[in-house]
Amino acid sequence: MKILAIDTSCDESCAAIIDTQKWKLLADVVHSHINSMKNFGGVVPEIASREHLKGLPLAVHEALDSAKLKVDSIDHFVVTNRPGLIGSLLVGLSFTKSLAFSLGKPFSTLNHIEAHLFSPLMATLDGKEPPPFPWIACVVSGGHTEIFHVESIFKYRWLGGTLDDAAGEAFDKVGKLLKLPYPAGPKIDRWVREAASEEHRTRFSFPRAKTEVHTLSFSGLKTAVALEVKKRDLSNADEILALAASAQEAILDALVEKLRQTQKLVGVQTLVLTGGVACNSRLREKLPEAHFPSPKHCTDNAAMVALLAGYYAKHNQLAPESWNTTAYPSLSTLEGK
Ligand code: KG4
Ligand code: ZN
Repeated sequence: MKILAIDTSCDESCAAIIDTQKWKLLADVVHSHINSMKNFGGVVPEIASREHLKGLPLAVHEALDSAKLKVDSIDHFVVTNRPGLIGSLLVGLSFTKSLAFSLGKPFSTLNHIEAHLFSPLMATLDGKEPPPFPWIACVVSGGHTEIFHVESIFKYRWLGGTLDDAAGEAFDKVGKLLKLPYPAGPKIDRWVREAASEEHRTRFSFPRAKTEVHTLSFSGLKTAVALEVKKRDLSNADEILALAASAQEAILDALVEKLRQTQKLVGVQTLVLTGGVACNSRLREKLPEAHFPSPKHCTDNAAMVALLAGYYAKHNQLAPESWNTTAYPSLSTLEGK
């Protein structure tokens, strides 16, 4: 069976195709709309929706071209309909429904976070061994920092997450205070890796919030950076570098400490991280034993959605859905599958 997967949950129009018999990814396309957001210091939901209207048909075309397939050879369409920006999700969902309806093919919806969660299984598409179950898994992105206990495919429990900002959001808000372009996470990662010393990373001791088990909080860090920025000279590049490096250290230390605590409490060794922040090279250094998908499959993509759909199909659980299916912005529908 050939499944075409679509994801428009944030500001990337993504399309991918999986062949479930061959267990191969035939296409994996991401059209990012980050450039349209640069002047705004973050994702503007209205602009993201409009960009998907232009970007999604192009991404789907490109996916079919690179798989050398005609659209009528797709057997099943899937789309993430939760959680995410509601306007963006609705563009993806409406597009997918229209395509499936016009071709007389079934369509199904999937959860974007569940797709991130199982993205380490992407290794199986290259004939490699994935990290062994059970996992403590953390989906750590711009919109989410969620910790799960994963026993096996589809069998998982949400343990907790951030009480306020997501870790990626903390990177981006610190970046905004330091007048770095959006998204600041990758920029801070690269700059610190290339230019920062141990002294830069420890010059400011920003807070690592002490929160209940399985929970995190990053809003205090943002306030602490804002207060420090007021006292400092932001025309001094060395000063900005030290602020960025020290803030990165605080975000990552809090995350690493929490995950280690969760590993101990739950009694599970295998640690898996996905989502945009899982691209971070310093985080990878701090957690050398953890499993990370390749950076391009940590950030938003439809390959992870196609893969998850492939697993549902393998388990005869890829049920066609009704035409009145809608989209949901929040994560609370995670168990709603
Ligand atoms: O998963 P993602 O592409 O989109 C969602 O939020 O769903 O994650 C984007 C987030 C942004 O906040 C970005 O700043 C952060 O991930 N990010 C990083 C890095 N690459 C992306 N944060 C720290 N270091 C990175 N290398
Ligand atoms: Zn995501």
